[in-house]
Amino acid sequence: MSQAQTSQARASQAIVLPETSNPLISFVRSVVPAPLRWGIRNAVRQWTRQRLFFVKLLLGDINPLVNNWPDRGQSIHRVYTEAYLEQHHGDIHGHCLEFQEATYLAKFGTGAVTQQDILHHNTENPLATIVADLTGANDVPSNTFDCIICTYVLHLVPEVEAMVAELHRILKPGGVLLVVVPNITVNYDEFDEFWRFTGAGMRVLLRRSFGKQQVTTQSFGNAITAMRELYGLGASSCRSGLLTRQDPRYALAVCARAVKGQSLGASGLGSVG
Ligand SMILES: C[S@@+](CC[C@H](N)C(=O)[O-])C[C@H]1O[C@@H](n2cnc3c(N)ncnc32)[C@H](O)[C@@H]1O
Repeated sequence: MSQAQTSQARASQAIVLPETSNPLISFVRSVVPAPLRWGIRNAVRQWTRQRLFFVKLLLGDINPLVNNWPDRGQSIHRVYTEAYLEQHHGDIHGHCLEFQEATYLAKFGTGAVTQQDILHHNTENPLATIVADLTGANDVPSNTFDCIICTYVLHLVPEVEAMVAELHRILKPGGVLLVVVPNITVNYDEFDEFWRFTGAGMRVLLRRSFGKQQVTTQSFGNAITAMRELYGLGASSCRSGLLTRQDPRYALAVCARAVKGQSLGASGLGSVG
């Protein structure tokens, strides 16, 4: 057999490696149920990250621990978002609208939602039941929704005032808009982000369409949770006592509730305070 034939024959032989399994790992897998194993793994990961966090701070390392979403677990601003929606779950009823997906309608609108729509501004989202750009002319009928959940949308919209006017138009009289936007946050590469809102800024924006008496805001976050979020730590890195202490100077989530006045077509009510 020539050298070329020999190497061809060798290459065509399937290389089968013996199955290497660590008997200790196999034993643990057979006796510890998967959810418990995952819980332990996450706890170990969190414990390690906490220590790494302090080491990196001490070393003055400016690179966050985690840069991408899924790796950090539930983010701190989402815990605040859910706390706000939970607080206002009584508003989430009847015909409701959410952006991109119905995550929060499913979680907080149980039983009371009679009809739901998902809005996306372009045709790329198969979950969308309404495709509309709410900053320009669109086909969404006026006075349609009892509740609109508008989380993490307004900071992405250049013509944000026009969008708020549209949100007001498509709500039924007496309908409620629940908004959550970031204040302190990372500028993520995957989105074009235009705005950051303080509580006062959000009130000014919403009052232009909803009127002075109809808007309330609430801010969530403090210096420590803000620092942790910016550094890539998730909610599980924070004790619940830390999450419940709010300091509006360091808001991670600015939340707002705006109610459309009862008179049909009411808009541009009141001056900006
Ligand atoms: C990052 S997603 C946020 C929604 C999600 N429910 C959440 O809580 O993260 C941004 C949403 O804003 C919507 N959006 C951005 N610009 C818009 C516009 N001009 N008109 C209507 N929707 C818009 C997009 O269609 C998308 O559904």
